[in-house]
Amino acid sequence: MSTDGDSSAFDVAPCRIGRNSLKWGKYEGKDILPLWVADMDFESPKEVVEAAMQASSFGNFGYGRCPDSLVDAVVERCRILYDWEIEKSWIVWLPGMVCALNVCCRVCRDASQVITQTPIYPPFLSAPGNFDLVCTRLPMILKDERFTLDFDSLDELFTQPGDLFMLCHPHNPVGTVFTREELAKLSNWILERSLVLCSDEIHCDLILDAAQKHQPFASIDSLIADRAITLMAPSKTFNLPGFGCSYAIISNGELRRKFKRCMSGIVPDPPAMSFSLTEAAYRSGEGWRTNLLAYLTGNRNFAVEELKKHSKLEVYSPEATYLLWIDATKLPISNPHRYFETKGVGLSDGRDFGAPGFLRLNFGCTRSLLQKALDRMDHALSELS
Ligand SMILES: Cc1ncc(COP(=O)(O)O)c(C=O)c1O
Repeated sequence: MSTDGDSSAFDVAPCRIGRNSLKWGKYEGKDILPLWVADMDFESPKEVVEAAMQASSFGNFGYGRCPDSLVDAVVERCRILYDWEIEKSWIVWLPGMVCALNVCCRVCRDASQVITQTPIYPPFLSAPGNFDLVCTRLPMILKDERFTLDFDSLDELFTQPGDLFMLCHPHNPVGTVFTREELAKLSNWILERSLVLCSDEIHCDLILDAAQKHQPFASIDSLIADRAITLMAPSKTFNLPGFGCSYAIISNGELRRKFKRCMSGIVPDPPAMSFSLTEAAYRSGEGWRTNLLAYLTGNRNFAVEELKKHSKLEVYSPEATYLLWIDATKLPISNPHRYFETKGVGLSDGRDFGAPGFLRLNFGCTRSLLQKALDRMDHALSELS
C-alpha cells in the first residue's frame, strides 16, 4: 500500500480473518465486528513491509542486537518531534510495554503504593498486584467534556517517598493529551512528595489535532526527569504490536541501573527483526503517519457525530489515539458490552478499565467497517428506546 500524500489509501485494509489475529480471531465464525483491542487493521508503511520481507528472505533468525543507527534514530526523533534532547545511554530496550509497566512496579517494590488514575489501560491496575503492591486508583474528573487529573484528590492523598505514580500520556482510554500546565502541576506534586514517575507515552505519535503537540513529561524540567521512567514504542503508531519492540528512557543513572537489574534474567531482548522494522518506521514512515492521522481524525469525527445523536450515550472525543471512550451507564441495560456483542459489535468493556458500564471503541479501521459498526449500534440503540 502506498499512502504518500493520500489518506484515502487507508480505505483499504487487509482481511485478517484466519491470520492468527487476536482482534479478529476473538469473533471468528461469528458475525461480530471487532472494534476492541488497540491494534489497527491497516497495513504498516511500505518501507516497514519491505524491511520485513528483506529480513525474512535472508532466512536466518538468530539473536539480534540493537543497531547504533536505530539508537540514533530514536535520539533524533525525540529532538525533532518533541524538542527533547536525550542521550543514547538513557535508552533501555524491551520486547513490550506491559512488561515495562511491570518492571516499573518491580523497581518500586518497597513502595507503600502505586498510584494511577481511572479509567485506565488494564495492566496499570494489575501490574502492582504482581508485586504485592497496593494500587491506589484516583478517578479522573471531567472539565468541559475533557477528562483530566483531579488535583484536589491528589492533594488529599497520603503518600510516602518512593511511591510510584503511573501516568498514561496521551491517555488510554480517554484520549487526553495533558497540557504543559497540567504536567507542571503534576510534576510539582510528584517532586514535593519524592515519588517515582512512570510515564507511558506509547500513544505519543497519535495526536489527532495539528494544533496540539506531545510533550514528554520528562522533558518539562530536569527535576522531574530525574525521577522519571518514560516508556515509548513504535507499536501503536505504525501498527507493529505483534513485533514486540519498545524502550524506556531513563536519564537518572541509578534509576536506570535499578530498572535494568529488575529486568535481568526475566525480560528478553526485542526480536532482531523488530529492530529493523522500527528503524524503517522511524526513518521512512512519517508521510504514512501524517496520512494516518488525517484518516483517524476523520474516523473520530464521524464516530463522535454519529454516536452523539443518542441522548443516552455520552461520547468523549479523544485528542489522541484511535480509541473512543463512551459512557453507556444511562442505557436501560446492565451490561452494554454484552448487549452490543449480541448486536454484532465487539467493543472493549469499561469494567476492565475500572469503569463498569463504559465502552471503548477502536476506530483504527476502514471507514466502511466503522460505518457498518455504527449502523449496527444505531439499530441496537433504537431497539432500546
Ligand atoms: C497505554 C498502553 N500501554 C501499553 C500497551 C501495550 O503495549 P505492548 O503491546 O507493547 O505490551 C498498550 C496497548 O494498548 C497501551 O495502550
